[in-house]
Amino acid sequence: MAILVTGGAGYIGSHTVVELLENNFDVVVVDDFSNSHPEVLNRIKEITGREFRFYEQNLMDKAKLEKVFAENSIDAVIHFAGFKAVGESVEKPLDYYYNNLTSTLLLYDVMRNNGVKKLVFTSSATVYGLNNKSPLTEDLPLSTTNPYGSTKLMIEQILQDLYVSDDEWSIALLRYFNPIGAHESGRIGESPNGIPNNLMPYITQVAFGKLEQLSVFGDDYDTVDGTGVRDYIHVVDLAKGHVKALEKHCSRRGVEAYNLGTGQGYSVLQLVEAFEKVNSVEIPYQITGRRSGDVAVCYADVSKASLILNWKTEKNIEDMCRDSWKWQSKNPEGYR
Ligand code: UD1
Repeated sequence: MAILVTGGAGYIGSHTVVELLENNFDVVVVDDFSNSHPEVLNRIKEITGREFRFYEQNLMDKAKLEKVFAENSIDAVIHFAGFKAVGESVEKPLDYYYNNLTSTLLLYDVMRNNGVKKLVFTSSATVYGLNNKSPLTEDLPLSTTNPYGSTKLMIEQILQDLYVSDDEWSIALLRYFNPIGAHESGRIGESPNGIPNNLMPYITQVAFGKLEQLSVFGDDYDTVDGTGVRDYIHVVDLAKGHVKALEKHCSRRGVEAYNLGTGQGYSVLQLVEAFEKVNSVEIPYQITGRRSGDVAVCYADVSKASLILNWKTEKNIEDMCRDSWKWQSKNPEGYR
C-alpha cells in the first residue's frame, strides 16, 4: 500500500514516515521545506534502511500534485502540511486561512478525482477551545481562539460535509495534545526556526545554553502548583497512532475524531523537574505573567482511541525528556 504523506519532512511527519516504513508501507512524501530541512530525508533512510519517493513541492501547485498521483498508485493520504504557529496566525490571519484551507481543498479535490478516499488529517486539541473541562472527550462542543485553530476546526467541518456527500470516504481526524520528545536514535527531532514558542524546545535550548532562562507563563492557575497543565505525548507514540488510524480506516468508512494524548496532565514545573532529574541538567526559570489564550488545564480522555484504534501510549514523561534532550544535545543547530 502506498501512502502519500504531505509535510512528511516536518517534526511529526518525519516520525510518522519512520513508523510507516517500519510497518512496510510504501511512502511518498511531498514537502516544500518551508519549515523543514532536506537532511531529515537522509536521516529517515538511515534509521529505517528503507527508500521512499520524495517530491519537493508546495501543495498549492495543483498540476504538480496531479502528477504525484499519476506517477504513484496512492491508496491513502496523511495530511500534515500547513502553517502551525499560533502567534503568527494572529498576526497574519489571511496567510493562514489562505494557505491552510486552499492547499487542503486542492488536495482533497485531487484525491477525489483519483478515487483516493482514505485520509488521516492532523487536527489539534486546540479545537476544544477555552471552556471545556478536562478530561476532554471527542464529543464536546468545539471552538477556537486563534486563526491557526480555526483552520483546524474548519477543515474538520469540511471533512464531515465531504463524508455526508459521499459515504465512500474514510477519514480519521487526529486531535493531538502536546507532542514532545524525539526518535530514540537522536537522529530526527523538532527543529524550530528561531526562538521556540512551545515549552519543550524552549527548555532544551535553555539546557543547552542557547537561551538564558525559561519564562513560566503564570503560577496562579488553579492547578497542583499554579502552573499550566498539559497532556504531553511522545512524538513516536503519536506517530504510531497515525499508523493505527490508517489501518483502521482502510477497512471502514466514516469520519471519526480521536484524541491522541496520554490522558495524564503535567504542570510546567513538573515537566521542568522531570527534565532536570532525567538529564542531570539545570533549567533556570522565572515566573512571568500568563500568556493570553492559555487554558489552565488541558488533557485528553483517550478511551476512544484505545477502544477503536487499539492504540495506547508506551512512553512516559522520563522517556519524553530524555529523548528531547538527546536530540537537542546531539543536534544543537537542528538539521542545519
Ligand atoms: C500550543 C498551541 C496549540 C498547538 C500546540 C502545538 C497556544 C496558545 N497553543 O499549545 O494551539 O496545537 O502548541 O504543540 O500557543 N509555557 C511556558 N513557557 C514557555 C512556553 C510555554 O510556561 O516558554 C507553558 C504554557 O503556558 C503552557 C505549557 O507551557 O501552560 C505548554 O505550552 P506550549 O508548549 O506552547 O503548548 P500549548 O500552549 O498547550
